[in-house]
Amino acid sequence: MSRTAPISALSKRNRYADLAHTLASLLAGERDWIANLANTAALLMQELGDVNWVGFYLLKDGELVLGPFQGKPACVRIAIGKGVCGTAADRRASIVVPNVHEFPGHIACDVASNSELVVPLMRGAELIGVLDVDSPSFGRFDEDDRSGLESIARVLIGTSRSTPE
Ligand code: SME
Repeated sequence: MSRTAPISALSKRNRYADLAHTLASLLAGERDWIANLANTAALLMQELGDVNWVGFYLLKDGELVLGPFQGKPACVRIAIGKGVCGTAADRRASIVVPNVHEFPGHIACDVASNSELVVPLMRGAELIGVLDVDSPSFGRFDEDDRSGLESIARVLIGTSRSTPE
């Protein structure tokens, strides 16, 4: 870790490391994918702060379909390449959006959302869905949130079966 990193960034990274440990404990011993997605969404909603929607879209038959989430009811299906979720899925790369109103094609599910972070869920080279987090604050998410939530996604995938038994 860089010795020149600001204290606030260090503490945020530490918080994500703690959160990853908490999630690993929460999911330990349980391999059910839907249960683990649901508990991950609940933990993130409880712990992140300043977020209004946390949840998952899962890849089914070539499109993203709403999975377990916390927040207001949301759009059910998102095509690959559409909105922030579909774009992150298409690129297989996380996207931090400081102002969703400036993101071309952003899909507004909750009008309260002003910034967003989407992390693809990958099992090896295979895309299996995305983690989507929305905030009512502009610029809520930075690179520490991106890397922190990518580590959360790795814990989730590492402890869960993503296909029905
Ligand atoms: N804003 C997302 C849609 C999902 S909701 O935010 C829950 C998007 O543009 O893909």
